[in-house]
Amino acid sequence: MATFRVGVAGDRWRQFFVCCVLLFSSRHVYAKDRATYRMIYQDISFASPCIRRTNATHQVGCTSNLNGNTGVIHLIENQTDIDWLQDKGSHAPYMAVFNADMFKRENIEKILKTGKVSGIVVDHSNHTRKEIIEEERWYSSDKSCPNQNFGLYNDTECPIQWNPYGDGTNFDIDFGVPVFALTHEVEVGFIRDCYFEHNHPNGTAQPEYPLCSMELDDFMFAVKDTPTCMWRTERTSNLETSHYCDPIGDKNVWGFAKNKKPDLASSPSIIIAATQIDATSLFYRLNPRVGSESVVSGFVPLLAAAEAIGKLKKEQKDAFDLDIMFTFFNGESYDYIGSSRIVYDMMRGYFPNNPEDEEEDKDKEKTKLPQINVTDIAYFLELKQLGLGDESTYYAHVDPISQEDEEVYNRTEDIIKILQGAGDVTVEKAPRDQPLPPASFQRFLKSGAKIPGVVLTDHKKEFKNGFYNSRYDIPLFLGIDSETWENDTVILPISEVRDYINSISS
Ligand SMILES: *[C@@H]1O[C@H](CO)[C@@H](O)[C@H](O)[C@H]1NC(C)=O
Ligand SMILES: *[C@@H]1O[C@H](CO)[C@@H](O)[C@H](O)[C@H]1NC(C)=O
Ligand SMILES: *[C@@H]1O[C@H](CO)[C@@H](O)[C@H](O)[C@H]1NC(C)=O
Ligand SMILES: *[C@@H]1O[C@H](CO)[C@@H](O)[C@H](O)[C@H]1NC(C)=O
Ligand SMILES: *[C@@H]1O[C@H](CO)[C@@H](O)[C@H](O)[C@H]1NC(C)=O
Ligand SMILES: *[C@@H]1O[C@H](CO)[C@@H](O)[C@H](O)[C@H]1NC(C)=O
Ligand SMILES: *[C@@H]1O[C@H](CO)[C@@H](O)[C@H](O)[C@H]1NC(C)=O
Ligand SMILES: *[C@@H]1O[C@H](CO)[C@@H](O)[C@H](O)[C@H]1NC(C)=O
Repeated sequence: MATFRVGVAGDRWRQFFVCCVLLFSSRHVYAKDRATYRMIYQDISFASPCIRRTNATHQVGCTSNLNGNTGVIHLIENQTDIDWLQDKGSHAPYMAVFNADMFKRENIEKILKTGKVSGIVVDHSNHTRKEIIEEERWYSSDKSCPNQNFGLYNDTECPIQWNPYGDGTNFDIDFGVPVFALTHEVEVGFIRDCYFEHNHPNGTAQPEYPLCSMELDDFMFAVKDTPTCMWRTERTSNLETSHYCDPIGDKNVWGFAKNKKPDLASSPSIIIAATQIDATSLFYRLNPRVGSESVVSGFVPLLAAAEAIGKLKKEQKDAFDLDIMFTFFNGESYDYIGSSRIVYDMMRGYFPNNPEDEEEDKDKEKTKLPQINVTDIAYFLELKQLGLGDESTYYAHVDPISQEDEEVYNRTEDIIKILQGAGDVTVEKAPRDQPLPPASFQRFLKSGAKIPGVVLTDHKKEFKNGFYNSRYDIPLFLGIDSETWENDTVILPISEVRDYINSISS
């Protein structure tokens, strides 16, 4: 699917050259032969790409041209730099090198609109990360209403901006150019030095050749929109090595507390205790630890609960009236992929066993779980974003529509009472008329089943986490791991990202 070649390079076909080379004399820089051109090329090893994606109607995200994109480096540190590029820059195309703070939707759109930009890189080296996180300069690449239109409500207008700092850059901008985050201090420094030495506008004068430039290469296929792309991919013959697109998604993880089959004959008999295990950011695999608040703060408590209950004796667990299904949904950041799949499978009788697997041996038949439908769910408890509670106060959110049913209302109250009696934490009710925050539970309610349930969070209204689904949602932000966060190994080298992409797309 993708090849990556990031470098600071001259493009002799366009008659401008990189002078960035600290290692070589200017004689080499001006030399015209290809071998020398290679020598002045400085590879970048620590970078993370923005990926091309499609939604139902459009393609979004980033890609280079087939042979890569080249441009003159222009640093964007403030509005003056944007205006200069727009009004004065006469050496297009440019590679816009954003400092972390300037990389926001409004500035991105301005830069793209000039039509003079062939690529974008963003400084995500450790000092900028630290500055942004410590000064809480909130930024989120998700939408202000995450998963809008895929949940329970007809929220065309986003009545509650759960994620007020979300600018949607990860979901609805078609950049049309390659975009990378650079993660290594030294490599960013190299580009900046090169810029200030050769490209920085001095007063009104245009900087003249030789200029420092950069090449970005990460061509990715995608065709128009999701239906078209999947159709093309499906009819690609085996002889062709590449295909056009891969569906996003991963495996949900679930397990039951009891060791015996749930009794589904009578009334609903399963409690779903759920959370989500995926996080995202505009940049692919930028940091394996992204999602520390939005995700980890929810799934760690659930794992702990599963472990604690798992340690009970078999007889104790089997005496429970209801069974607990611990569920970790995967892919929720993108239109609730994980929970949608489980609900879909439950409703057509494919959960947890696929009836088409006829080869099942007879011994297994005895231990096989019965099929579970959405109507078998007695209660639903979902944990979301629990890391930033003030004074251990948490909020129990409920769905106002299903609460109109008196029985659902009563049973939901029961859950809240149990939570409130649970110990050293305060559990407050979120306003009754307020819709649920973005949560997997919405997909279950959307099935029409009457399920009493609660979504427990650290926020009453807007997310406390202003870095939701962004590259800054890392442990440092929660004040953990501040010793080790600078460790290079956290940042994947570009070669690993490339290998990973090749492994999943071949
Ligand atoms: C913008 O940044 C440039 C350096 O890139 C600096 O020379 C200039 O003074 C800054 N302008 C403003 C308005 O801060
Ligand atoms: C959602 O909106 C559509 C069209 O705007 C409307 O037909 C439908 O009834 C609405 N559904 C609900 C549950 O409000
Ligand atoms: C798909 O992307 C387009 C183009 O950016 C955007 O306008 C639209 O809202 C997106 N659709 C969804 C469902 O997110
Ligand atoms: C991170 O920043 C420190 C200085 O703040 C620097 O010494 C170190 O080399 C940087 N690490 C990386 C990987 O850039
Ligand atoms: C800017 O130009 C002036 C006059 O052309 C020159 O004296 C000065 O050294 C230049 N500054 C830089 C940073 O190149
Ligand atoms: C699951 O329950 C739904 C809602 O009651 C129902 O429409 C559906 O047919 C059921 N599925 C199966 C396989 O029984
Ligand atoms: C709900 O609770 C109220 C008060 O405890 C009770 O009077 C009512 O009968 C309950 N309704 C149902 C449907 O259980
Ligand atoms: C960084 O990671 C490496 C490899 O995992 C480890 O050996 C090293 O101790 C770590 N350094 C710090 C400061 O955590």
